[in-house]
Amino acid sequence: MARIFSGIQPSGELHIGNYLGAVKNWVQLQDTHPGALFCVVDYHAITGSYDPAVLRARRWGMAKSLLAAGIDPTKAALFVQSDVPAHTELSWIFTTLTPLGDLERQTQFKDKSSKMESIPAGLLMYPVLQSADILLYRADSVPVGEDQIQHLELARDTARKWNAKFGQEYFPEPKPLLTPTRRIMGLDGQSKMSKSLGNTIGLMETDDEIWAKLRPAMTDPQRVRKTDAGRPEVCNIFQLHKAFSRAETVAHADAQCRTAGWGCMDCKKVLQESMVQELTPIRRRAEALDAEPQRVLDALASGANTARAIASETMREVRGYMGLDAVTIPTDTLA
Ligand code: AMP
Ligand code: TRP
Repeated sequence: MARIFSGIQPSGELHIGNYLGAVKNWVQLQDTHPGALFCVVDYHAITGSYDPAVLRARRWGMAKSLLAAGIDPTKAALFVQSDVPAHTELSWIFTTLTPLGDLERQTQFKDKSSKMESIPAGLLMYPVLQSADILLYRADSVPVGEDQIQHLELARDTARKWNAKFGQEYFPEPKPLLTPTRRIMGLDGQSKMSKSLGNTIGLMETDDEIWAKLRPAMTDPQRVRKTDAGRPEVCNIFQLHKAFSRAETVAHADAQCRTAGWGCMDCKKVLQESMVQELTPIRRRAEALDAEPQRVLDALASGANTARAIASETMREVRGYMGLDAVTIPTDTLA
C-alpha cells in the first residue's frame, strides 16, 4: 500500500488554491490510505524574515483550517514539523548528497532569491528539507499542486543517490499525486493563486466576502460587452466552476458563456452559490474548533507521536547503514 505524505506552509488559513490543488485531495486520500501523514512545515517557513508571534499564530490557524477542511486525526497523522526533530537531522544527511547546481536550478529558489540582497543558505536548502520530510516516512506518494513537481524530482534523485551509495533499496522514489485542479489561478487571472500575491479567496470567507472578491475578478478579456460570446477555456471563473459546481451546472455555464446567454455577473452569481455550498460546512467546523480549541492541540499531539515513532525507526536504520550508529570497539583494523 502506498504511503502518503504531504506538507503545507503555515501561511495562516487555507485559500481555495491550496485547498483545491492539494488539501481536498488529502481529505479523500486519508480514507483510502490509512496511515497518511500531513505536516505543517514551520521550519520551511523561516527561510525569510518573519515575526515569531505571527508564525505561532499561523501554525495554529493552519492546523485548525486543515481539521476544518476535513483532515480526521483518527485516520491520518496531522503534526507540526518542528515537533519531530528528525526532519532536520535527515535533511543534513541529504545535503551531503545533493549537488549545489541542482539546488541553484530550482525555479522557486531562483524566483525568491532574485528579490533578495542577501540570500540565506536555508532558502537554497529548502528542497533538501522537503526531501527529508517525505523520505523520513519512506512515503512514495505525495499529493501536491503543480508547483511542487520540480521539488519532488529532487527528492527522487536524493532517494536514488542514497540507495546507490549505501547499497540498499531503502528509500522509495516519491511521486507527485496531482489533482485536476493542479494550478488554480488568482482572481487577477494572471498568476498562481497565492497568499503572497494577495489574489486569494480564503476558505473561511463569508458568503458576502466571497462575492466581493468574485465580482471584480478577471474573466475572458475579449468579452467586453454582455452580448460578446465568451471562451470558457480561457476564463478563470469557468475553471472555478469546474472545481466547485456540479457537472450539469458546468455544462450549462459553458453553453451560456459561448452563446452570451449569461453575462459574466450571472455566471459569477451561480459560482458563488456553488462555492458557498462547499465552503459553509468547512466554516462551521472551524467555528466548532474555535469553541473547543483543545481538539486542535490533541490532534497535533497525537499526530506528532505517530510521526516520531516512524521517524525514529527510519533514523535508526539510516544511521546503521551509514556507519553513524552507536560506537563499538573495533573488531578489525579498518580504523
Ligand atoms: P503552500 O500553501 O504554498 O504551502 O502550498 C500547499 C500545497 O498547495 C502545495 O501542494 C501546493 O502545490 C498547493 N498549491 C498552492 N497554491 C496552489 C494553487 N494556486 N493552485 C494549485 N495548487 C496550489
Ligand atoms: N514546499 C511545499 C510548498 O510550498 C511545502 C512542503 C514542505 C511539502 N515539505 C513538503 C510538500 C513535503 C510536500 C511534501 O507547498
